[in-house]
Amino acid sequence: MAKVLVATLVLSWSPQVEGKWPLTGGKELADVPASFDCEMRKLAYAYGRKLLPRLGAFESLYYALDLNSESCHQEQAADEPVEQPGTALPNNWRDTAVFVDGTNGDDGNVGSESHPLRSLQVACDRAVTFGSDTPMVLLRGGTHFLTESLMLGPQHSKLLITSYPKENAEVSGGQKLQVTWKPYNVTGGANIWVSDVSGQVKEMEALQVDGVRATRARYPNMPQGIEVSCGYGCMIDGSKETWIGPDFQKFGNVTYYTDNSTKHYRNTTKDWFNEYMIGVGGLCSVYDPPVSYWCSEHPSGGGAFAFRTPSGVIYKSPNGPYEHGEDARFFVWRPARWANWMFDVAKYDKERNNFTFGRGGNQGARGENKGGDFFIENVMEELDYPGEFFFDKRTEKLYLFHNGTGAPPTDSIVVPQVKVLVNITGTQWKPVTGLQLKGLRFSASGPTYMMPHGVPSAGDWALDRYSAVFMQGTQHTLIDNCTFQRLEGNAVMVSGYNRWATIQHSDFAYLGGNAVVAWGYTNETSSDPGRPGVALANAPQAGVDGTDGEHPVLTTVQNCLAREIGLYEKQSSFFVQAKSAESRILSNVFFNGPRAGINMNDGFGGGDEIAYNLVFSTCRESGDHGPFNSWDRQPFLTTVRTGEPSMIMQVRAIHHNFFIDNYSPQEDVDNDDGSCYYVTHDNFLVYGGQAMKNDFGGHDNHHYDNVDAYVDRALGVCDTIAGHEDYFFGNYVVMRGETVGTCLPERQMYKNRYFTPSGKVQEGCHGYGGEVSKTPSDAEILNQAKKKLGMPEISLVV
Ligand SMILES: *[C@@H]1O[C@H](CO)[C@@H](O)[C@H](O)[C@H]1NC(C)=O
Ligand SMILES: *[C@@H]1O[C@H](CO)[C@@H](O)[C@H](O)[C@H]1NC(C)=O
Ligand SMILES: *[C@@H]1O[C@H](CO)[C@@H](O)[C@H](O)[C@H]1NC(C)=O
Ligand SMILES: *[C@@H]1O[C@H](CO)[C@@H](O)[C@H](O)[C@H]1NC(C)=O
Ligand SMILES: *[C@@H]1O[C@H](CO)[C@@H](O)[C@H](O)[C@H]1NC(C)=O
Ligand SMILES: *[C@@H]1O[C@H](CO)[C@@H](O)[C@H](O)[C@H]1NC(C)=O
Ligand SMILES: *[C@@H]1O[C@H](CO)[C@@H](O)[C@H](O)[C@H]1NC(C)=O
Ligand SMILES: *[C@@H]1O[C@H](CO)[C@@H](O)[C@H](O)[C@H]1NC(C)=O
Ligand SMILES: *[C@@H]1O[C@H](CO)[C@@H](O)[C@H](O)[C@H]1NC(C)=O
Repeated sequence: MAKVLVATLVLSWSPQVEGKWPLTGGKELADVPASFDCEMRKLAYAYGRKLLPRLGAFESLYYALDLNSESCHQEQAADEPVEQPGTALPNNWRDTAVFVDGTNGDDGNVGSESHPLRSLQVACDRAVTFGSDTPMVLLRGGTHFLTESLMLGPQHSKLLITSYPKENAEVSGGQKLQVTWKPYNVTGGANIWVSDVSGQVKEMEALQVDGVRATRARYPNMPQGIEVSCGYGCMIDGSKETWIGPDFQKFGNVTYYTDNSTKHYRNTTKDWFNEYMIGVGGLCSVYDPPVSYWCSEHPSGGGAFAFRTPSGVIYKSPNGPYEHGEDARFFVWRPARWANWMFDVAKYDKERNNFTFGRGGNQGARGENKGGDFFIENVMEELDYPGEFFFDKRTEKLYLFHNGTGAPPTDSIVVPQVKVLVNITGTQWKPVTGLQLKGLRFSASGPTYMMPHGVPSAGDWALDRYSAVFMQGTQHTLIDNCTFQRLEGNAVMVSGYNRWATIQHSDFAYLGGNAVVAWGYTNETSSDPGRPGVALANAPQAGVDGTDGEHPVLTTVQNCLAREIGLYEKQSSFFVQAKSAESRILSNVFFNGPRAGINMNDGFGGGDEIAYNLVFSTCRESGDHGPFNSWDRQPFLTTVRTGEPSMIMQVRAIHHNFFIDNYSPQEDVDNDDGSCYYVTHDNFLVYGGQAMKNDFGGHDNHHYDNVDAYVDRALGVCDTIAGHEDYFFGNYVVMRGETVGTCLPERQMYKNRYFTPSGKVQEGCHGYGGEVSKTPSDAEILNQAKKKLGMPEISLVV
């Protein structure tokens, strides 16, 4: 049962950091006219306001586009927020709702407005016993601190949980600490205070002070704390340190499984990714369930080899050796910055500063013998910078280097604890239907990056099956008008069987992991911690088989804002899906993420639509990718395309989006390793290497009627077999160089318009199916873009 305490702490948005607009592609983007870049950003600002009028002047977008800078200046818009039309409560709400109030509530009360309950769980359980068609729980304003997950099952179907009209209720997974600060070191520029917190918490991986995260004592320091991305900075250069190699014998041998039945042979490429394959056990024992494509017999694709991680590191540390190095935690980039691993320390040799890794290393799917750039945290010696904290578990004392003068506050020290705030769980046979969460704020869920992770399919990802709002076995779940802020793990997870889940008009910010995850199951092993107590039939033969329904289908994410995500797990996105189909990602604004904005980890089923989104400032900390990234290394059997079981997915459409690959590691739409059946059209795609990309057997991709602005070249695609050709037509491609790229036959490549500084392209086949002219004016390019985005033509002053 969830006990609820209520306080009146109201969190505010922390201000955006003003920074230089990040054209960190630097070299590559040096030849983009500054005037274009600036006018394009102004258009992005206008487009974002059009998508989310509820945000009015949309201050966070204004600053993220750096429009207050001198080099590209525009006044912030004066738009007033436009109230989203919401559904009114039924007229009789005062008589039928169950009320929760922490200050005046009491679980002995009936739960009426004048005699409210105290506990959310008691309220939810009671609201559905009255036989009402519209069961309702109304939360009074203020913070409702949970001490356990709110558990909702099929019996809670149709329940609406919402804030009391005109009040803001916050559901927090935090635990408020009782503190008495004493000066510890307030000399020489330090302002470190200590409080005895014995008996209150066992561990403290995260801490909030006045509603904002403090930073766990670490090296190197972060100039503006954990909530402000350092880009590629604030790391120890991993290439200069000594790594202890993988321990290949640690978990015994792996068992390979390759599905070799001819009816499961995809047969759409000559020799890429036609068979479903996995490996169980071996080094993939770090996952739960212990299975991955990257432990299979023949992992292939970009930079492919079997999974492993280094087993330790020896490094030159300016503040070490450490008194208790065994308490440290390491955050280590996989080289090339594809994902980061977190490790606890199993053994510490102080003399050599030799750390042997213990638990962890399961937060990404790709391996390496060595680590990349890294940092160390949770050692007392590194408590040397404003905003840092250290919890000494031996003495149960909390040390805080207060970022301010005098003592830290005493009434707003919160430890994020409860990992899952709302757990909505049913089954395919007995689903939770029509549950609604509206007008609520969710905060301070506990960290999950050290929890068990699984490899959801053959992309590069590993994921933990936890989130602040978790749903599995549901139909028509609605999350509307909610705020997900300062959660230590993922915000929303749509797990296993779900149909028609909708997440809309909601804001996500300052998350440890992903904003929204959709992740289904196939039976690869005979058990899975996500389905406790269920014996999974036909494993591993059913690994390929996605016809049993245990997948998110028709998930909609629309009109949401997500920003500042992936503060801990760097392979995090605004939306990621695996073993899910027919998702609709519509009219969202996503910016400021460490890795790809939207990720499709596989080609399961297809039928997805990604449209009208504004996505930029992605891959700020990682290598490769851009606003959108996909892989398709593992074929699946689904009925999505025709209603009959098939190894061929339905097409996946990406249209009318405004993507800016301003950090430019790769493409706006990065179709990696085997990605197929993408229909990418009518988008405004700014910067990046190639307008269209396929590699390692990618096929059946169509790129047409897009405006591709200042790409390096038009396309780089691989050979396809008969009947699986790619198409490139009707595109308006402004190129930085003269190389178009791959030549496709005339019937696949036509009616393109290429623009280059010289007005020429390098000689090639049939003129590359297009006409060439000199680079057009900024206004001309942007007017083309506006036509795609449904915005009126404005003639810009250049
Ligand atoms: C207090 O902090 C200052 C500044 O970091 C440092 O120079 C000094 O050694 C510290 N004193 C103690 C007793 O730790
Ligand atoms: C300390 O506070 C100042 C003022 O609020 C802020 O600008 C700065 O980023 C903070 N530093 C850290 C490390 O959090
Ligand atoms: C692992 O495989 C190797 C080589 O096939 C074999 O020699 C060894 O006995 C196996 N170990 C176990 C624990 O099965
Ligand atoms: C197919 O795989 C099964 C078990 O994985 C194996 O026993 C069989 O020999 C394989 N058949 C072929 C034709 O490779
Ligand atoms: C794959 O396709 C080729 C050409 O259509 C066909 O000859 C072959 O039998 C197919 N293989 C399988 C396993 O279906
Ligand atoms: C570091 O520790 C590991 C694990 O104990 C050990 O195998 C390795 O030899 C050590 N390296 C050095 C240089 O001490
Ligand atoms: C959204 O929720 C807030 C409470 O958090 C409420 O004040 C506002 O009226 C709601 N908006 C709509 C459109 O329902
Ligand atoms: C959600 O609740 C179910 C019980 O209904 C439990 O088995 C499952 O582990 C919970 N999931 C999470 C993520 O907490
Ligand atoms: C997977 O296991 C579940 C539980 O036993 C079963 O209901 C389902 O049919 C299995 N799926 C397949 C494709 O065999």
